[in-house]
Amino acid sequence: MSQTLALIQPHGGKLIDRMLPVAERPAALAAAKGLKSLSLSDRSISDVICIATGIYSPLEGFVSEADYHKIVNDMRLSNGLAWSIPITLQVSQEQAGQYNVGDTIALNLGDGSILATMKLESKYQPDQIFEAKQVYRTDDMAHPGVAAMMQAGQVYLGGPISVIADLPKDQFPDYAFSPSQTRQIFGDKGWRTVVAFQTRNPIHRAHEYLTKVALEIVDGLFINPLVGATKSDDIPAHVRMQCYNILIDGYYPKQRAFLGTYPAAMRYAGPREAILHAVSRQNYGCSHIIIGRDHAGVGSYYGSYDAQDIFNGLSSDELAIRPLKFEHSFFCKVCDSMASTKSCPHGSEHHVQLSGTKVREMLASGQRPPAEFSRPEVADILIASYKKA
Ligand code: ADX
Repeated sequence: MSQTLALIQPHGGKLIDRMLPVAERPAALAAAKGLKSLSLSDRSISDVICIATGIYSPLEGFVSEADYHKIVNDMRLSNGLAWSIPITLQVSQEQAGQYNVGDTIALNLGDGSILATMKLESKYQPDQIFEAKQVYRTDDMAHPGVAAMMQAGQVYLGGPISVIADLPKDQFPDYAFSPSQTRQIFGDKGWRTVVAFQTRNPIHRAHEYLTKVALEIVDGLFINPLVGATKSDDIPAHVRMQCYNILIDGYYPKQRAFLGTYPAAMRYAGPREAILHAVSRQNYGCSHIIIGRDHAGVGSYYGSYDAQDIFNGLSSDELAIRPLKFEHSFFCKVCDSMASTKSCPHGSEHHVQLSGTKVREMLASGQRPPAEFSRPEVADILIASYKKA
């Protein structure tokens, strides 16, 4: 019997697969050419990939009005399962006029090539300010997630999707795995408990510390960087991938660490996004997820540990994956080791801590941050990328 059976169950019990079998695609594509069409944004393409490959199981499509309200109000789907962020397909009011409930719509990549179809089951115009306050805890347009949501269109289209063409060529094809593939891989490695590490940054020493402490108590580590859209001052994914690889080569045990990309876009929704990150990683087969300080946060919209506290409101019946909560970590010069506010008795004057702005300034001027903050191999990749920019 396959070892994959021992891994955690997908959220809702089964992995969703909305990829039409290859043999059926030519006929489906020919038929879709006659349908009303909709151009997907990059963010919506990321959502289609996440839905179709099961990363967002149990979602089978963009959320209906009933699920939308339940998610926004109660952080649950209509069936009671935990779900924190509505996955929506939004269009402008002008565009919306051409689509009627009952239509099947062709979803295209913007260059006209069809990727998927959607059966339009629900069309609605919700209160976006309310959504912003509930999901992002702010309606400030300076928040990048709020801005992206508000700008995507006021009318929401919901319904199941079916991908009828190859997914767009992946930027990192050697690292793109669907949940059914990661489950197979983890099973083949003999892992039963796996901790996921979500990140949108290069791995600095504090990140490395979290992953290694976590690895002490589980079988494997899934380094799962987000590679969908991020804000413009985040380090681009292709640079980060070089950093992850050089660290894995030099500092992680090959048989216990595995790198694969997470194709979702970043929403910067802090606590609510931590839940979405957790659900996605459960679907990949992870039993645990690292949730550190200000997970998925931006600016000062969230408290340092809000993204940890939100898990306290969810029983293991509602969400099986467990968060591994970490306090603020750093190198302490007195301890002469990595430590955290939980384990180090010394004052912050002994801690090697640098602001994001300071780190960017140093790298941009060709200077490595202290080795206690970032490994030199990582710093050099970042310095080289600043030189090219
Ligand atoms: S995130 O937006 O993906 O959360 P980032 O890549 O910076 O941002 O963080 C990845 C994970 O590491 C998150 O769980 C975050 O909370 C955690 N983290 C980052 N830096 C620290 C730190 N110094 N101490 C504790 N946790 C941290």
